[in-house]
Amino acid sequence: MAGALDGIRILDFTHVQSGPTCTQLLAWFGADVIKVERPGEGDITRSQLRDVPNADSLYFTMLNSNKRSITLDTKNRTGKYVLEELIKICDVMVENFAPGALDRMGFPWETIQRMNPRIIVASVKGFGPGPFEGCKVYENVAQCTGGAASTTGFRDGLPLVTGAQIGDSGTGLHLALGIVTALYQRTLTGKGQKVLCAMQDSVLNLCRVKMRDQQRLGRGPLLEYSQSSEGIAFGDAVPRAGNDSGGGQPGRILKCKGWETDPNAYIYFITQAQVWKQVCEVIGKLEWIEHPDYAMPAARFSRLNEIFNEIEKWTMTRTKFDVMDILNKVDIPCGPILSMKEIAEDASLYATGTLARVEHPVRGTYITVGNPIKLSDNDVPVERSPLLGEHTEEILKNILKLDQASIDTIKASGAIG
Ligand SMILES: CC(C)(COP(=O)(O)OP(=O)(O)OC[C@H]1O[C@@H](n2cnc3c(N)ncnc32)[C@H](O)[C@@H]1OP(=O)(O)O)[C@@H](O)C(=O)NCCC(=O)NCCS
Repeated sequence: MAGALDGIRILDFTHVQSGPTCTQLLAWFGADVIKVERPGEGDITRSQLRDVPNADSLYFTMLNSNKRSITLDTKNRTGKYVLEELIKICDVMVENFAPGALDRMGFPWETIQRMNPRIIVASVKGFGPGPFEGCKVYENVAQCTGGAASTTGFRDGLPLVTGAQIGDSGTGLHLALGIVTALYQRTLTGKGQKVLCAMQDSVLNLCRVKMRDQQRLGRGPLLEYSQSSEGIAFGDAVPRAGNDSGGGQPGRILKCKGWETDPNAYIYFITQAQVWKQVCEVIGKLEWIEHPDYAMPAARFSRLNEIFNEIEKWTMTRTKFDVMDILNKVDIPCGPILSMKEIAEDASLYATGTLARVEHPVRGTYITVGNPIKLSDNDVPVERSPLLGEHTEEILKNILKLDQASIDTIKASGAIG
């Protein structure tokens, strides 16, 4: 079966996490992704957090599946020539260099567009136009400036960053959507365009509900936040809400059997209004079903601590998986806190391709997270990441159609290392 983006060629000029996440997704949809890397070192993540001597790190291998790698010094004159030739035959160029780096290299948008008016140039930057647009940005900077850190954690603790890479991988996802949208528009206009995703914007987009709450705050306390039922006044900015649910259905993380020794023996329990009767039945509080202080969601808001304390007395008597089993039978939404170890051992995730075991010539077998977006007509198996420059000759010969004499000249120039 073909890939959805078969025939689309991506000039992948990305590094670290945000850009590579985007191009890896496009590769899983069948695009031919050519990763351009600096000779010698390549993407810096190849050697970062290395766990196997001399092997590409998991940081790199898990973000660069299904790509080809060409080494190219794009500051070398001949290297620039090769880059130009690639620009002419690619549909999309993706980059996430520091602001201005592409211009300094001699490839501003206008130049690229002149070389190939159909090309889409997609960029990740830390910030959009404004006071910070020239700044370099990494994941946690984006989480802090996009509203995630100030709203994550407990009210009486520090702002917290989350383990989910919403700044890097989150922005890569946004960028991928921008790219396929621009590709679609190109089928109508015949023209390429610029796509920009700022990491601050992407994080803010994912924190949309907190901007919702910021505006609600002006009209009174946020009743679903525990601090409301605890009688603690709100300030003028959305506070950290611990594990309170971000939606209209109150939820909490509750202890389960074994919590004293297992840091993940917990479950997220949602007291969804539609199943309040079942919640009361499961925990044996039948008197709450009709009681005016508990029967309606609005009445429950001021009693959330009491209600969750009672529910927790019940969850603590069972393992998180038993709780999950019992609650799901009566349609109560919940989720066990799964450790990465438990997830890595979940056979059902391998069956769907969400996790995949990949064979690598240097590091051996490793686990990677596959394509989380399933298309019924896109069947692209997860392949290992390329070795540095593994496809340099192949790309010069078969994609750029250069003869051996030209390839030898390029080699002699030092442009490919
Ligand atoms: C991530 C980031 C902070 C890394 O910064 P950095 O390691 O200093 O890397 P830069 O992007 O500044 O690139 C460094 C240089 O390498 C050069 N370079 C990159 N690839 C090259 C190649 N193949 N050949 C020659 N030079 C190359 C760049 O042109 C740049 O040169 P310059 O500083 O003279 O302009 C920065 O790239 C950034 O802010 N990116 C945008 C936001 C982003 O994506 N952040 C998340 C990353 S997960």
